[in-house]
Amino acid sequence: MSDKDSQIILRELSKSYATGSPRWLSIGSVSGATRKTIDAVRGVTLSIERGTAVGLIGPNGAGKSTIIKILAGIMRPSSGEVIVNGRVPFKDRIKHVASVGVVFGQKTQLWWDLPVQQSFDLLRDVYRLQPQQYRRTRDDLVERLALEAFLSRPVRQLSLGQRMRAEFAAALLHEPSLVILDEPTIGLDALAKIAVREFIHRLVRERGTTVLLTTHDMHDIEQIVDRVLLIGKGKILADGALDRLRSEVFAESELQVEFLGDSPLLDLPDGISLIEQNGNRVTVAFDPAKQNPAEVISKVVAGKPVSDIRLGPRSIEEFVSHFYRMHGALEA
Ligand SMILES: Nc1ncnc2c1ncn2[C@@H]1O[C@H](COP(=O)(O)OP(=O)(O)O)[C@@H](O)[C@H]1O
Ligand SMILES: [Mg+2]
Repeated sequence: MSDKDSQIILRELSKSYATGSPRWLSIGSVSGATRKTIDAVRGVTLSIERGTAVGLIGPNGAGKSTIIKILAGIMRPSSGEVIVNGRVPFKDRIKHVASVGVVFGQKTQLWWDLPVQQSFDLLRDVYRLQPQQYRRTRDDLVERLALEAFLSRPVRQLSLGQRMRAEFAAALLHEPSLVILDEPTIGLDALAKIAVREFIHRLVRERGTTVLLTTHDMHDIEQIVDRVLLIGKGKILADGALDRLRSEVFAESELQVEFLGDSPLLDLPDGISLIEQNGNRVTVAFDPAKQNPAEVISKVVAGKPVSDIRLGPRSIEEFVSHFYRMHGALEA
């Protein structure tokens, strides 16, 4: 891929925060001694193609939100280059925000005391949208996000799930070609999460919108994203399709057997490792290229009555925590 096809280009992007301030008034402290620099993003280089869904994952403090804020044009990098839609976001903010939609799961961009509908009308004026085009987009979003029932209610009276749906609509009224989402499913209940995921998924598949999201929820990643960036301590530690990354880290499959009574004492041969044995449940891992799964099952079951057998890849949560332990990137 050449950079010409890319919607987002980062080259050696870095961001440091200066924290603390000299305690001028405290006796005995050396001026400046409490100043500290935090290198939140350290030399990130990447490009993202139009129409893809990319997930940023990483432990707290890894630098995800900092990257998002730089891409959104809210923050200037300390060094390096950032180009989105051919522009430098923090330099050309007005044109930039007209082509990007941003949703922060922990913040609202709606007007708390205004009915949802009026927030939308205000955004129409902010973005100077053509009335007809605006009505068409708004009606479409109202339908797709099922907002009709609470359009006339003030934002502060909405449930979190309703508010997030309204936030999505607000971020999309001007039909941006790139949508940036920082933890869009945080705090949502299971049903609301599914609704938000389905909506994002369709945005990418049906409209070709580019989506960049951060999340701690691995189901978001599994269901929405084509490509994951694993971030640790301000750097990209791995980049690619989730299944490929997972199979590189974990060639192993996982077998879980639930016994009708207590699980038997196991005498496992080399090549089958015990992950967990707990009451009537046993979990083992093995490499299916080296061990025949049918034989592994018969060894673990050992002729005892079972209620359930599950065989599959190791879970993505395990993959991610294993990966970060491997890279010593857990505490930033
Ligand atoms: N405004 C700020 N001032 C000082 N330090 C900050 C600021 N924002 C973030 N940081 C620090 O930068 C690092 C990366 O933070 P952040 O980008 O929010 O990570 P993430 O979103 O992955 O949790 C953390 O160590 C965090 O404490
Ligand atoms: Mg964050």
